[in-house]
Amino acid sequence: MILEKIETRTARSGVIGLGYVGLPLTVAIARAGFRVTGIDICSEKIERLKQGISDVPDVTNEVLAPLIKSGQIQVTTDFGVLGELDTVNICVPTPLRENRTPDMQFITAAVQQVAQHLHPEQLIILESTTYPGTTEEIILPELNAHFSKGTSPDTTQVGRDFYLAFSPERIEPGNSTYSMTNTPKIIGGVTPHCTHVAETFYAQFINKTHTVSSPRTAEMVKLLENTFRSVNIGLINEVALICDRMDLDVWEIIDAAATKPFGFMPFYPGPGLGGHCIPIDPHYLSWKAQMYQYHARFIELATEINSEMPKYVVDKIIHALNLQRKPLNGAQLLILGIAYKKDIGDIRESPALEVIRLILDKKADFLYHDPYVKDLSLDDRNIYHSEPLTADLVENADCVVILTDHDVIDYCWLVEHAQLVVDTRNATRSVKKGQEKIIKI
Ligand SMILES: NC(=O)c1ccc[n+]([C@@H]2O[C@H](COP(=O)([O-])OP(=O)(O)OC[C@H]3O[C@@H](n4cnc5c(N)ncnc54)[C@H](O)[C@@H]3O)[C@@H](O)[C@H]2O)c1
Repeated sequence: MILEKIETRTARSGVIGLGYVGLPLTVAIARAGFRVTGIDICSEKIERLKQGISDVPDVTNEVLAPLIKSGQIQVTTDFGVLGELDTVNICVPTPLRENRTPDMQFITAAVQQVAQHLHPEQLIILESTTYPGTTEEIILPELNAHFSKGTSPDTTQVGRDFYLAFSPERIEPGNSTYSMTNTPKIIGGVTPHCTHVAETFYAQFINKTHTVSSPRTAEMVKLLENTFRSVNIGLINEVALICDRMDLDVWEIIDAAATKPFGFMPFYPGPGLGGHCIPIDPHYLSWKAQMYQYHARFIELATEINSEMPKYVVDKIIHALNLQRKPLNGAQLLILGIAYKKDIGDIRESPALEVIRLILDKKADFLYHDPYVKDLSLDDRNIYHSEPLTADLVENADCVVILTDHDVIDYCWLVEHAQLVVDTRNATRSVKKGQEKIIKI
């Protein structure tokens, strides 16, 4: 019955958690013709969404508003609606606790709600990034316990009474080439039939699916992908530190190495890792590995190197100012770019925040400009945004520090007006005039 409802797109779908992952997913499901209900605990967000206002860059108001207006997408804070839904995707955050261990409180809270409203033939899919075992160790027992209330838990059968799968979200916010629908979807169900039902669902709005043998495998796939990035960025950051000592240009070296058509994939150094995924997800893997008496050394080492990069950037600024016979204490800096990567406004875990903390400690004065981040408060301090980016502003700075290489900035213009530039992203690679003012990491 569920399969027929999915194939005829008459199934009623729901998405829990309407952030960077959940909102684009809600829209993709709705565009395939399903009626979708988005559920979030943040009532302000729900009020904005009801007015057709999106706070996720990958979903424009032009796309969202008509879907809300027509009722194709409904949004609510009321979990009671779960009882009416045939499919439920869970897209809640999976951060770290202060001691860098997985914080499962959002998944647990969402699953408790799902369990209370679980009904026959319902398909539940977890999309949040998490450690291998989460779906079967945390979610399945909770669902089993509620489903079998009043009967014996032994009589409940996942894969027959309800369906459960893990399918990691691989979206990269701001990537204009690969979106949710043209990125293959990994799916691992608790039973083969769970996998089949989940795959049938995704096939309605995702071009390509790839099934794996279990939820644990699917959970591990996502952690491999993000750990791969973290470790390779750690390696290239280390190479950048070595090149600096050897007075070699790491950017030129990477570009040259990338001409090799096989066996090499370019990664680039920078001021450190950022975003909700790469700095966090590897810790989910190393934490779980410890339970198998395994110490994940590559992960720890990459984390150590990557998290030292903000300090290295500040050392570069000190070095650059020193060449001008200026101390950092009292220098006027212009920080360009706060977002953790270019062309988006996401500052979660952004290395720019750590660079700013270090600069504040050293008593430098600074302003920042980021076309996508207009407000910033850090450790209860308001940090002043400067808008627009004027020639005066650039000229008056003792040093311009490029922390995010947003495409909308004219770097030739910037270098022309700047006294000194520390470029942590090779944003000035095409600048011909004024190269002598630029210091790169
Ligand atoms: N952002 C990315 O680029 C990305 C990419 C792939 C995977 N992921 C993973 O997807 C998951 C979600 O990430 P995100 O970036 O969308 O997070 P987000 O913070 O942008 O959004 C999460 C949303 O969930 C809501 N929420 C929290 N607890 C809830 C609950 N109990 N019930 C209902 N709503 C709840 C929050 O209010 C928020 O709106 C994480 O596990 C993340 O690692 C993120």
